Amino acid sequence: MVANKPRVIVTRKLPDVIETRMMELFDVQLNLDDKPMSVPELISAAQSADVLVPTLTDKIDSEILEEAGEQLKLIANYGMGVDHIDLKYAQKMKTIVTNTPDALTEDTADMTMALILVVPRRLSEGVKLLRSGSWKGWSPTGMLGSRIFGKRLGIVGMGRIGQAVAQRAKGFGLAIHYHNRHQLHVDIENKLEATFWESLDQMLARMDFISINCPHTPATYHLLSSRRLKLLQSHAVIINTSRGEVIDETALTKMLVGGEIAGAGLDVFENEPAVNKKLLVMDNVVLLPHMGSATVEGRIDMGEKVLINIKTFVDGHNPPDRVFLDFP
Ligand code: DGY
Repeated sequence: MVANKPRVIVTRKLPDVIETRMMELFDVQLNLDDKPMSVPELISAAQSADVLVPTLTDKIDSEILEEAGEQLKLIANYGMGVDHIDLKYAQKMKTIVTNTPDALTEDTADMTMALILVVPRRLSEGVKLLRSGSWKGWSPTGMLGSRIFGKRLGIVGMGRIGQAVAQRAKGFGLAIHYHNRHQLHVDIENKLEATFWESLDQMLARMDFISINCPHTPATYHLLSSRRLKLLQSHAVIINTSRGEVIDETALTKMLVGGEIAGAGLDVFENEPAVNKKLLVMDNVVLLPHMGSATVEGRIDMGEKVLINIKTFVDGHNPPDRVFLDFP
């Protein structure tokens, strides 16, 4: 626990309503210009704050945590993914880390479903054709895509977001398959009419669409490796709204260029904001600038979670969204 009015440093611009509440509750340094902090700026912030509120664009590595020392008590991450934070080192330094689960589940699932529809039905190509002024009118064989209804969707990672995707996809007549570290409770499987695959390889080889919904951890880095991507059927479409690092982006690009799979819908990339130039020009690839959770409501909900985590901690309780529960 820290004294009342702890020093809280926020690394990026947050929704006004969240910043205002933070100003009421804490001794806060905001980043109204939204200019991402450099490493020296992050180090100095971590050294002077009781609570740091970073987000996925801030790399909180061992150097920053070491420099911060025990002064930094809580990292209240604004976001769900925590792969930009060296969790092992934070644990070693006895710094609590929290995130914002649930706040972005529905929005990210909506975006995933949108990509599942947009890529096979060639919607972005249709928009492009119309805008170019070269559309000659309806024709029996014009702009044919592939049907969604009745196809198989393989979800990699069946946590909150994966399940929310499954729920939506079921409504579109897709058969739900999934690979997860643990098989879901039979009641959830029955509700989603979902088929569990212990073997990711086996599932990948049989699906029409694949959706990546697992977090990026050391265990899921390049989970969709070049070898695994080659297991996909040539008509398969792959969707990623999780983290770019889960797919070997170079291998995926090669396969798309070579026509070895039908298409991709990507909201996340391995080296954001850089995007492989070859992907940018492909008609069967829909690319979005990491906007899966980008709704006004979602971003406020994320901020509310950050506020609750900080306030609970300051009041001497266990913040609800701790990423790890104990220290070594
Ligand atoms: C997160 O919070 O990890 C999301 O990727 C933001 O969209």
